[in-house]
Amino acid sequence: MKLRTIKYFLWTILNIKSLKNWKNRNFSTPSPDVIKHQVLIKNNLNNSLWIETGTYYGNTTKVLSKISKKTVSIEAQKDLYDSSKKILSNFGNVEIILGRSEDLLEKVILENLDFENICIYLDAHLCQDHLKNTKTFGNEIDATPILREMELIKKFLKSFKKVNILIDDIRLFNGSFQNYPSKDFLVDWCKENDFLWEIEHDIFICKKK
Ligand SMILES: C[S@@+](CC[C@H](N)C(=O)[O-])C[C@H]1O[C@@H](n2cnc3c(N)ncnc32)[C@H](O)[C@@H]1O
Repeated sequence: MKLRTIKYFLWTILNIKSLKNWKNRNFSTPSPDVIKHQVLIKNNLNNSLWIETGTYYGNTTKVLSKISKKTVSIEAQKDLYDSSKKILSNFGNVEIILGRSEDLLEKVILENLDFENICIYLDAHLCQDHLKNTKTFGNEIDATPILREMELIKKFLKSFKKVNILIDDIRLFNGSFQNYPSKDFLVDWCKENDFLWEIEHDIFICKKK
């Protein structure tokens, strides 16, 4: 058997539960994390810095660390920050930072201007902690920092050769759920800043032209 076939077989076995669950939901959004991870991998840039907002338990951070030169992840909730810092302690190219992404994103970018390419995964928002069955950091009226994050990112677009921004949970961007803006906000942002955009598996992808 070819190595690729073995890898594919192992991948399917490891993810069988979430894939079955997805099939039972008629492959509707949100796609399982393992599928979303493929979208992130596909949109990686060479020798890039990855910034993730919203670390949660660090599952995606692990994937990003494998494809990036360096990954910085920002988490606002102290206990999630503590657990992910522990879980990722052996990942040499990962930095986990405690705080709100809207307060820290600018500092993180400024400290890493020596990178040629940057990829940003924006996933900080109020959500359900599936292990503790409680709500994570945030509240209903201020659930996502996306407007401030996109405003901050604008300032640094010229500092990098290539920029890919991936925004998760695009299904929630309908202008009437919590403080999520409409999808038009992201489309206009892309037009104004000369970015191409597309949507894959509930992730809005912006690419600098
Ligand atoms: C959907 S989870 C992130 C999932 C993670 N990116 C992954 O792929 O496994 C959202 C996380 O964002 C955190 N969060 C919420 N508001 C935040 C903010 N303003 N800044 C940073 N993190 C925030 C929450 O505590 C939660 O852990």
